[in-house]
Amino acid sequence: MKTETTVQGLNASLTAARLGRKTIGLVPTMGNLHSGHIQLVQEARRYCDLVVVSIFVNPLQFGVGEDFDRYPRTLDEDRKLLVDASCDILFAPTVDQMYQQWPQATLVTVGGLSEELCGAHRPGHFSGVATVVSKLFNIVQPNLAFFGEKDYQQLAVIRRLTADLCFPVEIIGVPTIRAADGLALSSRNAYLSPEDRSKAPLIYQTLNWIAAELLAGSREYDNLSAKAVATLKSQGFEPDYVEIRSTDLLHPESTAKEWVILVAAKLGQTRLIDNLLVNIGKDPELRSKRPVSASRKA
Ligand code: PAF
Repeated sequence: MKTETTVQGLNASLTAARLGRKTIGLVPTMGNLHSGHIQLVQEARRYCDLVVVSIFVNPLQFGVGEDFDRYPRTLDEDRKLLVDASCDILFAPTVDQMYQQWPQATLVTVGGLSEELCGAHRPGHFSGVATVVSKLFNIVQPNLAFFGEKDYQQLAVIRRLTADLCFPVEIIGVPTIRAADGLALSSRNAYLSPEDRSKAPLIYQTLNWIAAELLAGSREYDNLSAKAVATLKSQGFEPDYVEIRSTDLLHPESTAKEWVILVAAKLGQTRLIDNLLVNIGKDPELRSKRPVSASRKA
């Protein structure tokens, strides 16, 4: 695996692949890699001739008072994991390399979608993400780019920006990897105290509870969300939101058969997010768990 820290060096390393019309896959990350990231690399490996992983803790997507300074930076360990995962090129630029003029005057903003859910609680966050992802697309010029479905809203923002700005990149969403107790893997889980770590799976349990209610026929979206918020609060979480949306992140009709349930909640100093897709039509596992009363209502 080659490591490149400059745009010039990366271009030199990619010349042969570009000339040979190889399929280039990009996995953008902020490092502190875990099995969820490695899954993205493995997917990229399946579809691409050459896999580039970027590690860059992007200051533009962190708000004032957020965890930019303490975000875990573990480049040596990350490098070993990437070698084992058969990554071809690690692109690990410095802030100066990515933002030659700081503050950068040009920002990419995906209107509407970026202002709700996490965007409402982290102003400017998705503009920071959209800007750095656009820069990475221009620098690496990948054919395919891989992102985790755990960051469902981020994935939606990136799909929209790719379409709106005509980036010739195919966006691939990769399902969430979970710990045995259901907690979605995230670099921020490392911040959790042992006590909070033992509480954290309640988020996934709550998602599953709402999914079961939807599958049982409930369409009382506001009521379900309010009950879920109350449950999380009673266990010491500070929920930013629990939302039931259609998979395009709009508010669902009562006739909907496909939803994404999204949660963001603070536990101690750690902000956790997770989501669950529920689809009556397509998910035989969920359908088979559907209570008999739900079949009667449908
Ligand atoms: O999901 C992340 O790790 C980051 O938001 C991303 C996509 C690498 C942009 O900095």
